[in-house]
Amino acid sequence: PVLVVDFGAQYAQLIARRVREARVYSEIVPHSMPVAEMLAKDPAAIILSGGPSSVYEPGAPVLDPSLFDNDVPVFGICYGFQAMAQALGGTVAHTGSREYGRTLLSAQGGTLLRELPDDLPVWMSHGDSVAVAPQGFAVTASTPGAPVAAFEDLTAKRAGVQFHPEVAHTEQGQEMLKRFLYDIAGLEPTWTSSNIIEEQVAAIREQVGDKQVICGLSGGVDSAVAAALVHKAIGDQLTCIFVDHGLLRAGEAEQVEKDYVAATGIRLKVVDAAESFLGHLAGVTDPEQKRKIIGREFIRTFEAAARELDAERHIEFLVQGTLYPDVVESGGGTGTANIKSHHNVGGLPDDLQFALIEPLRTLFKDEVRALGTELGLPDEMVQRHPFPGPGLAIRIIGAVDRERLDLLRAADLIAREELTAAGLDRDVWQFPVVLLADVRSVGVQGDGRTYGHPVVLRPVSSEDAMTADWSRLPYDVIAKISTRITNEVREVNRVVLDVTSKPPGTIEWE
Ligand code: XMP
Repeated sequence: PVLVVDFGAQYAQLIARRVREARVYSEIVPHSMPVAEMLAKDPAAIILSGGPSSVYEPGAPVLDPSLFDNDVPVFGICYGFQAMAQALGGTVAHTGSREYGRTLLSAQGGTLLRELPDDLPVWMSHGDSVAVAPQGFAVTASTPGAPVAAFEDLTAKRAGVQFHPEVAHTEQGQEMLKRFLYDIAGLEPTWTSSNIIEEQVAAIREQVGDKQVICGLSGGVDSAVAAALVHKAIGDQLTCIFVDHGLLRAGEAEQVEKDYVAATGIRLKVVDAAESFLGHLAGVTDPEQKRKIIGREFIRTFEAAARELDAERHIEFLVQGTLYPDVVESGGGTGTANIKSHHNVGGLPDDLQFALIEPLRTLFKDEVRALGTELGLPDEMVQRHPFPGPGLAIRIIGAVDRERLDLLRAADLIAREELTAAGLDRDVWQFPVVLLADVRSVGVQGDGRTYGHPVVLRPVSSEDAMTADWSRLPYDVIAKISTRITNEVREVNRVVLDVTSKPPGTIEWE
């Protein structure tokens, strides 16, 4: 792999993703990992990420210079660039001044920046800067705040930049990263969906042997792709369980039961538990209470189905759709595997313990989507927006019942249809539609006064759901949705738009 050494800023994951977008496999390692351990991973190259603004900052992580006692290609970015300069005998000037944000780069040839336009916009965020490059390095660019903004030593296969090539504000950043990977480090772009599938299929076969496996499907992308991958590896040794809690959106249960099965040939056990879930939810209005009930009932139902299957054919493995960001964010090392599993079907009793198969553990979401497409899954499933586990229950403000669910489903379907028709699916992170079931307002529909419910449109843009902004959807799209909902959904006589960012609002209303 290409190792991305994380110096503690937000950028390591982004760099790792960019490397993979260049079709080279990457892994994130903490800066505290001893050099010997990094080398034991047989790295194809090492990228030193950004971190504190200065190597002189108190407590700034130190780079072990023995990293450079071997011939692994190294690329230093921002803090990594300074740390690299210092470790190799260059000087970092303790200027105390800062350069932050977009600035123009003046490039002077070299391999990394060859034939790029003059005055190239790049994204900077540093205090001190490299004053003298280490011996053997050619300085290939400068900016007003950084006399040495890029350097390279082609013989040693080492290069570095003061700015952030991984962010979109650095216009040719991806091109530079590719040049380091291909032209300086000599790597090949071989990390492709079909290679990932081939590797995973072999690994799953090896892990499972002739044993039996189960997987819970949620209707979401991750479990769908994980199961399809495992099915490709071991075929009928896999059985999937789909607990239909009756809180999905229009068409979603059918998508799992029909389209997905048709596309994959997977053996599916459907548990229609809507009645029981709605029974337990009856009259409950508190959001956390709803979540608790749904979580508890989900585990109970899944467990019962798993037990039945286990009696029929002894089950040894459980598939989980854990993704790489979950692994990295929970410490990266061993023992983190279970965190997400507790989320999904955690709490399985001791006598029903399975070993985990996590075929997406090394992948980012966009890679999972690409894999899903390669595995032949329907587009609507692969490109689906994130959807909360408790489903529509937390989008009905008030108690949940069948009638209200049907109402919300109809309104939600219209919003989704119109978003898709406008070609805006990819511009929006999520588009919750919320029913204010206990609120009524006066309206006039047809030739009579009505006293109906409002529906809230909550389209948001986001990178990771931690923060979000309300999406500026075109007014005509919103108008169309509003007209259709009030025309087609009896009982709804008002459509409102949520214009709150997160924070202070959350994405969901409950
Ligand atoms: P909030 O509303 O906290 O949501 O801004 C952040 C992201 O998490 C999703 N979400 C949930 N997902 N179970 C889930 O699996 C939940 O209880 C839950 N609550 C919120 C939400 O859809 C958004 O993507």
